[in-house]
Formats: sequence, structure tokens, C-alpha cells
Amino acid sequence: MNNPEMNSIQLMIDEHVYIKRMLQVLRKASFNLLKGETPDYDDFYKMIDFVKTYADDHHHGKEEKLLFNRMEEELGDTGKVIIKQGMLVEHDMGRFHMAELRKALEELKKGNEEAKLDIIANAVGYANLLARHIDKEDNVVYRFAERELTKETLEEVNHQCQAFEAKQAELGIQSKYIALVDELERKYS
Ligand SMILES: [Fe+2]
Ligand SMILES: [Fe+2]
Repeated sequence: MNNPEMNSIQLMIDEHVYIKRMLQVLRKASFNLLKGETPDYDDFYKMIDFVKTYADDHHHGKEEKLLFNRMEEELGDTGKVIIKQGMLVEHDMGRFHMAELRKALEELKKGNEEAKLDIIANAVGYANLLARHIDKEDNVVYRFAERELTKETLEEVNHQCQAFEAKQAELGIQSKYIALVDELERKYS
């Protein structure tokens, strides 16, 4: 983490691997619900917490504030279109799915059985959306950034990323949420 040569894009690709493992957990928990099992609400809230704090604040936060902003500013119309109409719209749709999932869990707790539909629809919808989003970033968007941003810009992104990672590590964010992936994966696989 203190390596001055940190490659921020590689770090984000590595984070995608943890996020994709949690997407599988969301699918599996949804399948259990579909089969009629009683939902473990605490586990669902842990999944939502992972999505909010790790996937959205920690990971999408870095993308939006450190990398995508530079692509919008420095890579012309193509950069603007890919980021604004592509990546940012999808981050936002992800937030919508999570808000709906939260509401549906509350509804089910109140005894509204039909809310199971919305739990499954939003958990699986989120998992599918994010899986495709991650593929686009790994194979197209990040490649485009590496190819087209100047060496100076990429170095700046790396430095800012390193500072952010250190701050988050002081709060224990990375270790907490990586442990949570392990914990839930053991239960839902
Ligand atoms: Fe993203
Ligand atoms: Fe991403």
C-alpha cells in the first residue's frame, strides 16, 4: 500500500473481483428466497452495507472522483459519452436497485409476502447490472484510460488513489469488507 508505484487501475480491477464474489452471494440469497427459505435479514443488510460502503463509496467513489473525472476532462467527446452516459448512469441505477431492495426488505418484515418479488428482482437486477458494468470497465473503459490519458495524469491518479487507500485503511474499510465477502461466501455458495 505504501508502494509509490501503485497502479490504481490494477487496484480497481482487483476490487472488481471482490465485488463480483458478493454479486454471487446476492444471487444465491435470492435463490434461497425463491425456494421458500426464510430470509436472514441481517445477512441481507450486510450485503447492502457492502454494496454501499465498499462497492459504491470506496470503489465507485475512486472511479468517479479520481479517474472518470479526468477522462471526462481530458479525453474529448468519447470520454464524456463513455463516462456520463455509460458508467455514471449505471452507478446510479445500481443505487436505485439498492434503495428498492431496502424498501422491499422492510415490506417483507411487515408481512407483505409479495415483497419477495421485489427483493429478488432488485438483488438479481443489481448483480446482473454490475457484472456487465464491471466487464465493460475491465475490457474497454480502463483500457481506454490507460491508452489515452497522459503519463502525468495517470501518475497523478495513482498518487491520489494511494492517499485515499491509506485513509480508508486507517478506518479498516478494505479489511472489513474483504472479510465480509469471505464470511457470506461461506454461507451462500
Ligand atoms: Fe464503475
Ligand atoms: Fe468499477
